[in-house]
This record gives sequence, structure tokens and C-alpha cells, in this order.
Amino acid sequence: MNIEFNRIYNMNCLEGMKYIPDNSIDLLLTDPPYMISQKNKRINRKNMRTEAYRREMDINLDFGEWDHFESEQEYEEFTKKWMTLTYNKLKNGGWFMVFFDKNKICLLEKIAKELGITSKTIFVWAKTNPTPHFRRMNFVSATEFIWMGVKGNTHMKNYQRQTEMYNYMLYPNKSTYGETGHPTEKPIEILKRIIKPTTVENDVVLDPFMGSGSTAIASIQLNRRFIGFEINKEYYNMAMQRVSKAISQTKLLYEVIEK
Ligand SMILES: C[S@@+](CC[C@H](N)C(=O)[O-])C[C@H]1O[C@@H](n2cnc3c(N)ncnc32)[C@H](O)[C@@H]1O
Repeated sequence: MNIEFNRIYNMNCLEGMKYIPDNSIDLLLTDPPYMISQKNKRINRKNMRTEAYRREMDINLDFGEWDHFESEQEYEEFTKKWMTLTYNKLKNGGWFMVFFDKNKICLLEKIAKELGITSKTIFVWAKTNPTPHFRRMNFVSATEFIWMGVKGNTHMKNYQRQTEMYNYMLYPNKSTYGETGHPTEKPIEILKRIIKPTTVENDVVLDPFMGSGSTAIASIQLNRRFIGFEINKEYYNMAMQRVSKAISQTKLLYEVIEK
């Protein structure tokens, strides 16, 4: 099988990534399953005591089958498999960026260390409009974390102004930016912020867990190439729709600039 650039493949990434040549990818940016789904669990907001929190729609705490694993051991083996594959595909000096559950970051660090990835930082996405904590038993969860490391340890390719290099970014949650029905769609602006300094134009970004295609859209908008995998047909179709729209918008933009 020949893997082409600027394509998403509707297949299991553990199979598909074998066809990517080793040391050919400039950046690994991905958002794998977190194993945090609570089977069939929803929070009903119709009868909330506080009026401001009442909504017609439930909050769904089950993202889908793809986020269910039999045991922690199975999840650890799965994580080790995809991390090892992506490590082999990355060029020396390539960055490794992974959205990950805060409670499992130690697992990611452990595997990264075994593989020889240099740990760099944890980028924080701080949500400006997080979902309120209804039961008042904890702080409101308003952050998501992107673990970052590098294969080898070289200077960053495309360092930006200091203010664009802070390792956090304030951005709203999906209720504000969401374009698709994917339950864990990530904001394009956050992805662009981290792709930009670690790559240059035409570099290749790999996302083995493409979901609704956000990494592909961010790459297109920054004129980077991408390779993606998505196992679920419905999400793959969502991603393909977004990609063709983004490509035609970019073409239009270049036509206007060239005139
Ligand atoms: C957390 S979501 C990614 C969401 C994505 N960042 C977005 O913005 O839409 C993880 C995705 O990985 C897919 N997935 C899970 N296991 C997979 C596998 N082995 N190969 C390819 N895709 C897989 C799921 O179907 C899901 O859409």
C-alpha cells in the first residue's frame, strides 16, 4: 500500500502506519482515545436546580466504543503500540504532541522515556467557558493538556514571538467553536498555535486518530501536508467533508492573492 500526503485513510492506524516510511514525518500531533468514557452515562440538565445551568440537551459522558478498553493493561499496550510506530516514523528533531488525560500523563512520560523521546513541556488549553461543576465537590475542570516531547533534541524550526510561545492558550470549549458532531472535536486555533513553531511550510504532520479532521484543517490552513487515519466511517466522512471544504477555500484564497 502506498501512503500519499494530504489524505486521511479510513482504517486502523496500527495497520496503516506500517506503510509510512520510517523517519519521514516532521510532526506527530494527535488526540488518541483517553479511556475516560463512562458507559451509557449522561447528565440530565433539564431539571437542574440552578436555572442558569438548565439545558434541553444532556451531557454525554460516553464518547463511544472507541474509548472503551477492557482494562488499564489493554490501554497501556495500545498506547505503547501506537507510540512506538509513530516514533519510528518521526524524523530526528520531530516534535511529538499528544492530547492526553491528566491522570494518565505518567504513562505517556514512561513510554516516551523508554523510546528515547526528550520530554519538553505540557501545553495547557485553558477553557474560557468550561462546563460548570454541578455537584460542587471539586474545582471546575477548565483545562486540557498536550504533552510535548521531541525525537532527539534540536532547536525549534520556526520559533515565533515570545508571546506566541507561551505554553498555554485561552480558548473556549466546543459549544463555541464546534463545527461537527464529533464528541471530542478540538479547536483549530489551538492546533495551529502548536503546529506553527515546530514545522515549516510543506512539512508533514501525522495524526493517527484524526476524528473529525481538525489536524488536517489546521495543516491545510498553514500550508503543511498531512497524513491521517480514522477507523470510524462516520467520523471519516465528517473529516473528508471538512477537508474538501478547506482545500477549496484555500484554493480560492490563493486565486484571489495571485490576481
Ligand atoms: C479523541 S478522538 C480525536 C478527535 C479529533 N482530535 C478531532 O478534533 O475531531 C479519537 C479518534 O480516534 C479514532 N480511533 C480510535 N482508535 C483508532 C484506531 N486504532 N485507528 C484509527 N482511529 C482510531 C476514534 O474513532 C476517534 O474519532
